[in-house]
Amino acid sequence: MSDQQTEDVTVLKLGGSVITDKDQPYTVAEEQLGRLAETIADHCEGNVVIVHGGGSFGHAAAASHGVSTTDGTTDAGAIVEIHRAMGELNQAVVDRLQEAEVPALPVRPLSVARRTDSSFSLASLAIEAMLLEEFVPVLHGDVLIHEGSGSTIISGDELVVELARLLDATRVGLCSTVPGVLDDEGAVIEEVTTYEAVSDVLGESESTDVTGGMAAKVKELLALSTPAAIFDPDELAKFLDSGEAGTMIR
Ligand code: IPE
Repeated sequence: MSDQQTEDVTVLKLGGSVITDKDQPYTVAEEQLGRLAETIADHCEGNVVIVHGGGSFGHAAAASHGVSTTDGTTDAGAIVEIHRAMGELNQAVVDRLQEAEVPALPVRPLSVARRTDSSFSLASLAIEAMLLEEFVPVLHGDVLIHEGSGSTIISGDELVVELARLLDATRVGLCSTVPGVLDDEGAVIEEVTTYEAVSDVLGESESTDVTGGMAAKVKELLALSTPAAIFDPDELAKFLDSGEAGTMIR
């Protein structure tokens, strides 16, 4: 962090399935995105960083080139195609936020991050500068240069975890299509503190998803010292007001 500190940072992820029609290639869920943007405008106070997923933009592009978080490509054309698909979605998100008068600005991970098989690093300089000037940085899952593999996918969830660490966030929220981690009967589990406690009920996502679904989310969030909430769009206002919604992971 720079000498000027950003305080009380909220890192909020908008799941790709929430803001796109995940079964319809390259389609923004316009109404839903508009509603989320209005909710963020009405309920956000202080520093917020938004990360969005790939939904029917990034996952479709990545799958068509056989690229995932572990399978890389050295084809610059494929990298640009995936990045461009995510750029299109990022522009739609930034535009809708700005229409709702949220001072959103795009941050494109391909240009400010890298990974190796065992690590991931993100340059936070511009993000911190934006927060200090009261802008809202909007990042997204992306293709990233991966040492020795050309380029692989970084999920929005991984970015959320790293941002929460870098910015010493006070809360993390994942707005997803499901209202939280669900038990065998489909009821929301209020709190998760160990992976073992929920491993049986965590299934895989059904649509094209190159980054791992709910199980990966829970694992990553458990490793974080910041409390995290997984909730659906109906609970976004509650999360922004109180930091508690859906399933709390801590
Ligand atoms: C995926 O990001 C990004 C790409 C495939 C390029 P996420 O994994 O965070 O996307 P969602 O939220 O599951 O759609």
